[in-house]
Amino acid sequence: TLRFHRPVCICPFTMCLQCLPILSAVYNTYLKYHFVSAFWKEVADDFFWKKPATGPMLQYNFDVTIGNIYVKCMEGAKTNMCYNVLDRLVRERNLGEKVAYYWEGNSPDHHMAITYSQLLSQVCRCANVLKKMDRVSIYLPMIPELVYTMLACARIGAVHSIVVIHTVFIIYGVYRGEKLINLKQIADEALEKCREIASSSVTKCLIVKHHALRTKSGAACNKLQTPWDSECDVWWEEVMRDSPEECEPEWLDAEDPLFILYTSGSTGKPKGVLHTVAGYLLYTSLTFKYVFDHHHDDVYWCTADIGWITGHSYITYGPLANGATSVLFEGIPVHPHVGRFWEIIEKYKVTKFYTAPTAIRLLMKYGREPLQKYDLSSLRILGTVGEPINPEAWQWYHEAVGKGRCPVVDTFWQTETVKHSYLTLNPHLIFQTFPFFGVEPTILNEHGEELEGEAEGYLVFRRPWPGIMRTVYRNHERFENSYFKKFPGFYVTGDGCRRDKDGYYWITGRTDDMLNVSGHLMSTAEVEAALTEHPAVAEAAVVSRPHKVKGECLYCFVSLKDSREFTHTLVEELKRLVREKIGPIATPDFIQNAPALPKTRSGKIMRRILRQIARNEKDLGDLSTLADPKVVEELFSQRCEAA
Ligand code: WT7
Repeated sequence: TLRFHRPVCICPFTMCLQCLPILSAVYNTYLKYHFVSAFWKEVADDFFWKKPATGPMLQYNFDVTIGNIYVKCMEGAKTNMCYNVLDRLVRERNLGEKVAYYWEGNSPDHHMAITYSQLLSQVCRCANVLKKMDRVSIYLPMIPELVYTMLACARIGAVHSIVVIHTVFIIYGVYRGEKLINLKQIADEALEKCREIASSSVTKCLIVKHHALRTKSGAACNKLQTPWDSECDVWWEEVMRDSPEECEPEWLDAEDPLFILYTSGSTGKPKGVLHTVAGYLLYTSLTFKYVFDHHHDDVYWCTADIGWITGHSYITYGPLANGATSVLFEGIPVHPHVGRFWEIIEKYKVTKFYTAPTAIRLLMKYGREPLQKYDLSSLRILGTVGEPINPEAWQWYHEAVGKGRCPVVDTFWQTETVKHSYLTLNPHLIFQTFPFFGVEPTILNEHGEELEGEAEGYLVFRRPWPGIMRTVYRNHERFENSYFKKFPGFYVTGDGCRRDKDGYYWITGRTDDMLNVSGHLMSTAEVEAALTEHPAVAEAAVVSRPHKVKGECLYCFVSLKDSREFTHTLVEELKRLVREKIGPIATPDFIQNAPALPKTRSGKIMRRILRQIARNEKDLGDLSTLADPKVVEELFSQRCEAA
């Protein structure tokens, strides 16, 4: 049996003698299973296949010099994701009465439990509604309807793309903390733009009325005052009421697309990462099972947003494929009070808790007092994801939240890879220390040479596993250029990595022009492009600066057009522009006036220097390639100290 991921050692940093024998047994099992293809076959046997595979479990080419890059899993097989995560459990495993989700609203007054059979019937109804539509785009917050629509898409074989606009739209108004946000209005504006740019127009909008608006009926609803387009807008509740509860799943090919999720690209234009049915099913279900040591009676809670890959994999598909009970939380960690997370853990007796370093750092600011009011003794495993976790945050998570008894699994992965490979900070937690089954990492130097032993360099993967992305939507060339060109024969993560003397891997951060704000990856080019859209801006350069809560934040240098003046109003306008173009997460913390930018003689902006200015690092090293060294002094004298 593979069920070995038990918290074996509770000493914080060292492997005690008591653990060593267990460790070595685990390691042997691990080696045995790591690359055996029969292993994937065994994993697949847990699921339902309308038609078995005719090809091998995994076929691929990872070398651009040989030919096109491709990965195929279980070619020839036919299946359905939704059937596997719902019908199979209700029919074959008798889990109909088990709770799939405890939904906890933004306000503690709104909550409900949804069983597997209730989920199935809602999904089927929704699937019948969506069948009449063409392409589906979902714009919903963390409410059950979001899960219904995702799974309904999976059921009828519609590729879901959450947030990106196509033909159908699902929206409403929502409270975020204290704030009422009019999502319908935001969506209406986006749709209007769509109609202007593209001839393909949105034909139907299904609008969900939020719990908070349903109960506060009159008052809150009137606050929204959103126009209603009777041609296009339809109430969700009305169409769902009339929709039948039976819906035959569409049997899809193993390699048919399941969803597209957009992630930042270093050229600034987002990439549509495409995942396929069978490989994604196998991989999310298996990683969930072992990384969180899933047991039937667990209550699992991942605080991520479903609009993010973490939510797709570890709120929707992975937990459901295992018949797990999850918490689906709509709110924010500090509303209505800073103990909200801990209150929810106590309320639902959460056993496995998965969050991001940025949330941990935010809550650390309030000290341990808010935790003391709640009983957290149900917790057994803590997880973290999204960015490197700093030692202070790790320590606090382990001690204040886990009371020193819960292992912390640090999961490193990407939108592209679906699931991770390493632990970074906690060597006593055996499992995450090694790459997950099927993942074969290595470290390369600048010249693409593999480094042995203790080393630091580029983190790459030598071979695919079932859940790796298949392509960039409608741009396979970009897929190959972004991940396979730099070092032929390998998938290049874009992250740096260090292997220590014990063979443990530590992720050191991005090696490209990307930065990570609160666990969200974004490219400097993307933000620069937004800033230069402002008529006053001639040129912009964006770098990262460390931030206590967000990990990294944006520090922007802008050069203005001749007659323009750098004013407080302009700074506010620029911030708003970036918010609108990219999203609130990308709002710059610092915007500095840069009469000139440091450039090489060939005109390339020297970001290294800008980064040092932003961080107030006076020792700038070699400036000989700089066209005009005076520029640097001037920028230093005008640095922004505080946001
Ligand atoms: C990038 C991927 C993982 C899904 C959410 C983010 C960074 C992610 C860790 C971690 C160190 C991490 C990497 C990676 N990253 N998790 N545990 N330790 N770095 O998905 O937006 O595709 O970002 O996030 O830089 O490449 P994403």
